[in-house]
Parts: sequence; structure tokens; C-alpha cells
Amino acid sequence: MSAVQELLLMLLPLTLLACQVSLCRGACVEVDSDTEAVANQGFKLGCISCKMRGEVDARASVTWHFKAADETEFTPLYTYENEVGNISDPRFYERLDWNGSKNTKDLQDGSIYILNVTFKDTGTYHCVFKRVFTYSNYEYQTSPNKTIVVNVVPRLTRGLASILSEVMMYVSIIGLQLWLVVEMIYCYRKISAAGEEALRESAAEYLAIASESKDNCASVQMAE
Ligand SMILES: *[C@@H]1O[C@H](CO)[C@@H](O)[C@H](O)[C@H]1NC(C)=O
Ligand SMILES: *[C@@H]1O[C@H](CO)[C@@H](O)[C@H](O)[C@H]1NC(C)=O
Ligand SMILES: *[C@@H]1O[C@H](CO)[C@@H](O)[C@H](O)[C@H]1NC(C)=O
Ligand SMILES: *[C@@H]1O[C@H](CO)[C@@H](O)[C@H](O)[C@H]1NC(C)=O
Repeated sequence: MSAVQELLLMLLPLTLLACQVSLCRGACVEVDSDTEAVANQGFKLGCISCKMRGEVDARASVTWHFKAADETEFTPLYTYENEVGNISDPRFYERLDWNGSKNTKDLQDGSIYILNVTFKDTGTYHCVFKRVFTYSNYEYQTSPNKTIVVNVVPRLTRGLASILSEVMMYVSIIGLQLWLVVEMIYCYRKISAAGEEALRESAAEYLAIASESKDNCASVQMAE
């Protein structure tokens, strides 16, 4: 085996380890942003762009543009570069905060947070990543982007159907629990009556039997 081959074999575990570390750090899921904001509350405008080539070094900046409902053109809203955010739109001065990746120039989450949403914030938001991959002797640039149409509502509207179904859920959960308790008592009595044999069964098996239906109870007794 040549010296070069030996060296490569020695380096293999290290390389694997390095890959693993970058894979762990690169765990990223592209979740779509919410689109319904509530007036006078905060709202997170989500924009996630996962880096496909996790092992390649990259740096990214994020720019946001905004087009209000009554406007026809996008205007610059916010820029985040070199870990510094800059609000460009006077309508949003003091009202925007960075909610994306922190302490890194390799941004994958470009989300921003609107404080005190107003009805004038209704409109279309566009977020563009400018990501530069650095290979050993060249650079490669991509610009993944997302468009989010945001609607501002007075408060979160909750349909009657949703409330009714929640009530039904609780009613059925409580009903089933009561039924289970009654069934357990019924089975317990039957089994005790069956004598010592059944009492020797472990507590776990007791429960298993109790959760079966009445018919099963009867057949257990028959078998004994
Ligand atoms: C923020 O952006 C404006 C133009 O949009 C620019 O004039 C200003 O210098 C920027 N501020 C910082 C701190 O980058
Ligand atoms: C987003 O920013 C807001 C305002 O600064 C903050 O309250 C919130 O905790 C942030 N959320 C995340 C996930 O960083
Ligand atoms: C939102 O606006 C109200 C008044 O318009 C103000 O009292 C409140 O402090 C603001 N909240 C935030 C988080 O900026
Ligand atoms: C937005 O992304 C698409 C691909 O998803 C790309 O073709 C397009 O050039 C991007 N637009 C901008 C403004 O970067």
C-alpha cells in the first residue's frame, strides 16, 4: 500500500466526521409562511431557503420587497447582510426585526418579524436570498426567492364549525373514559368472582383484559 493510500485511509474517518457535522448543522426544513396577520399584534414573515449543497461553504444576504394592496410596484423593504439588518421603507421604521438565522453569514432562514401590524401592511411580500457558494477556485451564485401574500384581519376568526368540533371532541373523550371505567369495574367483579386463578394474573394483564369488551371477558372465564 502506498503512502498516499495509507494517508487517505487515515483521513477517511475525519472526512466522514466533518460531513456528519455539516449535515447536522444543515438540518433545515422549508416551512411556508403564515399569511394571516392580526392587527396590532406581531407577525412573523417566514422565508426559509435550505442550502442544497450543505457541504459547500456559502454566504448569503436577504432582501425583502413590499407591494401594498393598492400599489403596483414592489419597493425595497429590508436588507440583511453581514449580520446587520436595515429597514428601507419609512412605513416600517422601528417595526421590523430580524427573525432569521443568527450568528452566521450562511443564512438559511430569512424570516422577519413585523411589530404592531396595521391594516396598511396588507399586501405582497417578496423575499430574495442572494447566496454565493465558494468552491476552491470559483464562486457560484443562486437567488432563491419566495412570495407571500399577507392579509391583515381584526382578530383571528374562528369558525363555528371549529368550535363545535372541539366541544364534540371533549364530549366523546369524556364519554369514552366513563365507558372504560364502567367496563373495568364490570370485568374486575366478574374476574374476582372467578376465583384465585384470575387473581394471580399480573396487574398488566388485568388491565389488558379490562379494556377488552364484555364478550372477551366472558370467553376468558370460559377458558379457565
Ligand atoms: C440602509 O439603507 C439605506 C438605503 O436603503 C442606506 O442609505 C443606509 O446607508 C443603510 N444603512 C446601513 C447601516 O447600512
Ligand atoms: C422574532 O422577533 C421578535 C421581535 O424581536 C421576538 O419577540 C421573537 O421572539 C423573535 N422570534 C424568533 C423565533 O426569533
Ligand atoms: C403598538 O402600538 C401601540 C399604540 O399604537 C403602542 O402603545 C404599543 O407600545 C405598540 N407595541 C409595540 C410592540 O410596538
Ligand atoms: C426566483 O426564483 C426562481 C426559481 O425559483 C428564479 O428563476 C428567479 O430568477 C428568481 N428571481 C429572482 C428575482 O431572483
